[in-house]
Amino acid sequence: MPEIKLPITRYYGSKRKLVGRIWNEIENLGLEFDSVLDLFGGTAIFSYYSKVKGKQVTYNDIFSFNTAIGKKLIQHNSNELTYEEAISLLEPQQGYPYQKIIQENFQNIYFTDTENRQIDIFIQNANLLENENKKLSAYYILFQSCIIKRPYNLFHRNNLSMRLNYNGGSFGNKKTWERTFEELFLRFLNELDEFTFDNGRNNLAVNFSAADCLETADLVYIDPPYFSSSRNHTTYHSKYHFLEGLANYNRILEHINHTKNNREITINKSDQFEKPSTFLTELEQLILRHNESIIVISYRNNGIPSVQSISDLLVRCRPDRQVFTLDLGLYGYALNKGNQFNNEFLIIGTNDPI
Ligand SMILES: C[S@@+](CC[C@H](N)C(=O)[O-])C[C@H]1O[C@@H](n2cnc3c(N)ncnc32)[C@H](O)[C@@H]1O
Repeated sequence: MPEIKLPITRYYGSKRKLVGRIWNEIENLGLEFDSVLDLFGGTAIFSYYSKVKGKQVTYNDIFSFNTAIGKKLIQHNSNELTYEEAISLLEPQQGYPYQKIIQENFQNIYFTDTENRQIDIFIQNANLLENENKKLSAYYILFQSCIIKRPYNLFHRNNLSMRLNYNGGSFGNKKTWERTFEELFLRFLNELDEFTFDNGRNNLAVNFSAADCLETADLVYIDPPYFSSSRNHTTYHSKYHFLEGLANYNRILEHINHTKNNREITINKSDQFEKPSTFLTELEQLILRHNESIIVISYRNNGIPSVQSISDLLVRCRPDRQVFTLDLGLYGYALNKGNQFNNEFLIIGTNDPI
């Protein structure tokens, strides 16, 4: 089979570079499954790969902006939004009473005044679209463009000035940050045209905390947030809250935390799977809920709790079935700050009896 082409992702923890290897390991174990549940879906890369492989796929993520991306790539099979339509969404429609929520509350925080105005108008125009396919395409190109225009591709700091004052040096991609929405929309619409397809199955994208997600499948993929021993933990909510606000535009105003410099938008903020002290208990509940399924957990060897404790947990939950812990090798930089190898692992609980 030719190599599978995947959409480019700029998302923290994306498995884009690893998903082919992860899939090979699953295949090498000879595991049989027809359906997949991607519980911490993120960019939808694992779901997308599973869709290409002809599986019946359910994508889940706690954030609605991610679920919109999942709906677009996994649940939907085409892109109906044209470039001309996308560009017209940046223009105000006559007589519509536009709110200026981003312009008035996020000045000098993430984007320029002109960009803030474009975001306000675009998202409200997108929300007026009755065609769900076009609306999700509009969300997709806006979210991807916002991510690519941000230093570090993140929203946890109000560092617009870093982007504007950047004058060369070792870090940064000023050229990309300064690309206009008009330019970026073209790139991401092309991406949607290339990557949306029908695999003949009824695929689904849902929006729950993994702990509350009642969907299930033959194989459940678990790629949770992880806590590195060497750094303070920044939650996914903190990294991407601004996009979660855009996906819930009419709820932003009552959810802005004005005491924080970055005006955090608190929609869908949750501690679940984001605190080392409760992580193992929460994971245990997930494993028990999906007791009939093959479980595949992605993890790193510099995480807290350790790979070993997660593997032990799986063995404890399934004493009668096989558990494999596979080292996929180095990930990203060869050495992290503590000069420790940073390897990516898979912990797999099969349905085969020992
Ligand atoms: C390591 S990332 C997953 C990356 C994904 N596999 C990919 O390749 O893009 C973890 C994901 O879990 C999501 N998340 C965080 N807490 C969650 C929760 N309680 N339930 C479901 N998803 C959650 C985050 O939004 C993030 O997208």
